[in-house]
Amino acid sequence: MNTPSLLILPGDGIGQEVMVEVQRIIAWYGDKRDLTFEVSEDLVGGAAYDKHGTPLHDDTMAKAQEVDAVLLGAVGGPKYDDLDFSVKPERGLLRLRKEMDLFSNLRPAQCFDALADFSSLKKELVSGLDIMIVRELTSGSYFGEPRGIFIEDGKRVGINTQRYTEDEIDRVARSAFELARKRDNRLCSMEKANVMESGILWRDVVTEVHAADYADVELSHMYADAGAMQLVRAPKQFDVILTDNLFGDILSDCAAMLTGSLGMLPSASLGAPMENGRPKAMYEPVHGSAPDIMGQGKANPCACILSFAMALRYSFDQGEEATRLETAVEAVLAKGIRTGDLMMADGGTPVSTSQMGDAILAELEASL
Ligand code: IPM
Ligand code: MG
Repeated sequence: MNTPSLLILPGDGIGQEVMVEVQRIIAWYGDKRDLTFEVSEDLVGGAAYDKHGTPLHDDTMAKAQEVDAVLLGAVGGPKYDDLDFSVKPERGLLRLRKEMDLFSNLRPAQCFDALADFSSLKKELVSGLDIMIVRELTSGSYFGEPRGIFIEDGKRVGINTQRYTEDEIDRVARSAFELARKRDNRLCSMEKANVMESGILWRDVVTEVHAADYADVELSHMYADAGAMQLVRAPKQFDVILTDNLFGDILSDCAAMLTGSLGMLPSASLGAPMENGRPKAMYEPVHGSAPDIMGQGKANPCACILSFAMALRYSFDQGEEATRLETAVEAVLAKGIRTGDLMMADGGTPVSTSQMGDAILAELEASL
């Protein structure tokens, strides 16, 4: 098989700094594990706007369609707050998701033992937490038409449309059931079937897919508001949570914060299989561009490094190497080596972004 290709889009703010560390990890895999990638790099978000006047150049979009996987840092920053909506950094990210048709967004919320004290919840509620949120990513109210700000009777009205076809629900449900089978075999689907027709259809289709092909998976349904409440009350009851684009945006931030460490969480956005059998894929940390700390060597590279681990697992069929990398990150945390976002009152060794990279590389070496 050809050398797998990776397109790296560091984007804005700390995206650029954390990606430097990921590049070092990628180089290590080439040197030490004979896993070589053909890596190219390009601009997205504000960085692309600065150069091209658009948050995603057509050439970059075309490249993203061709590679085996995209690795994205973060987009956005106060510098771009006043830009027209159509060229805001976020539009670049949304275009990638939409045009690559990355309908299944995997957001693990996992509590690292060494970090359980960081949660705003009691330690016993979160220690050992391991949830996977599957968020539909290419439809729903993020993309539904009609949308816009219109004038009605001389007054402005803002409109977005929550719209789901049964095929869109069917395909994301299948991806979530498949994942559940590889985990604890439980899936909880969340919508608002009590007030929204799109929610009624969501529940119906998920139930049908389950009955037809996944009856072995334990399925439950919850209204999304109750789901939010349960996530905070007793998060360990969940294994896989399946939900739509907007609810998934909110519930995944909530779940991320349960772990107490946004700087630790990766994500994968997957689409249909390409000709070579690999899914269309983009991997990105859940944290944003954190403009307040950019350029100071304070950023935590772990989420981005763990996103590369997800790429190893889901795009390149290298589950063991993914586990090696995840284990290395865990070992570093267990030794009390921490970037600023993870410092506790009781100490630990504060390190910079690149020192965190050094420590993870040292653990990888030690794993050989
Ligand atoms: C996320 C982010 C994005 C979203 C923004 C940056 C467009 O919040 O990935 O969760 O709303 O989907
Ligand atoms: Mg979000």
